[in-house]
Amino acid sequence: MSTISRRQFLQGGTLLAGALALSACGGGSGAEGNSAESTDQAATNEGSTTQEAAGGLTTVEAGKLTCISNLFFPPFESMNESTGDPEGFDIDVSKSLAEHMGLEVNWLPSQDFDTLVPTIKNGGKADIAIAGMTITDKRKEEVDMSDPYVDSNQSLVVKLDSGETASSLDSKDKTIAVQAGTTGQDWANENLTSATIKPLSTIIEALNGVQTGLYNAVVCDLPVSRYQLKTYTDLEIVEEIPTGEQYGIAVSKDNPALLAAINKALADMKDDGSMAAIESEWFGSAL
Ligand code: ARG
Repeated sequence: MSTISRRQFLQGGTLLAGALALSACGGGSGAEGNSAESTDQAATNEGSTTQEAAGGLTTVEAGKLTCISNLFFPPFESMNESTGDPEGFDIDVSKSLAEHMGLEVNWLPSQDFDTLVPTIKNGGKADIAIAGMTITDKRKEEVDMSDPYVDSNQSLVVKLDSGETASSLDSKDKTIAVQAGTTGQDWANENLTSATIKPLSTIIEALNGVQTGLYNAVVCDLPVSRYQLKTYTDLEIVEEIPTGEQYGIAVSKDNPALLAAINKALADMKDDGSMAAIESEWFGSAL
């Protein structure tokens, strides 16, 4: 885990001037604002308990990249059963992002998926939501989304040998479990219009419910259902749904400098092989 030395921190303080100048002009998309006024302010703040830290980034806690997610979405994010710590693809991505930005990663407890975008939008609690979150126009009205870092699709998961298909499931007497507020829920609402759609707080609850016969199917992101079916051996993917989704990281619209730094770090992680290493760690090969 990376911690920031005082020297790095102070070096960061020098870079701070630019970022302060940016926030002083109220952000917008101009990551290259030209205001030169706040050098003195930066010097004053250096080393104090303000939110600005290494790399000139403003974060909710100085020097830290505070992350939120719904930690029931393996292999992207879950809680390690023995330690209770978050683990998964997104967790490793968050650590590497933080390292590339000269910050320390800080994870908050799991929250419901449909609260992530509002939390980031409201500000003050977390810097990013990293949650296998599909970039959508609707979300982009509320928050900024980073450049895409994973491609994804949906899937329909049913009990093995149930004989269900996408069309048999689109029927009044069928109940389809989804995770509330997800693109899987949107797909089910649009495509299984005759069925009852049951929003649940986690995809694990949904998969368990299909296992016990409570629900006829679950709509789940394909990389997650593929991964989960290794342990849920009595379930099967009856249909892969090519929605062509891409995951991005949610950042407040009030922090364009952070968004730019995240996009830069993502690009660097692709270039220096860190992203490929995390992909092989969780998916067995680069994606
Ligand atoms: N990709 C889907 C979406 O953005 C599902 C994400 C669920 N993520 C989670 N961590 N539970 O809506």
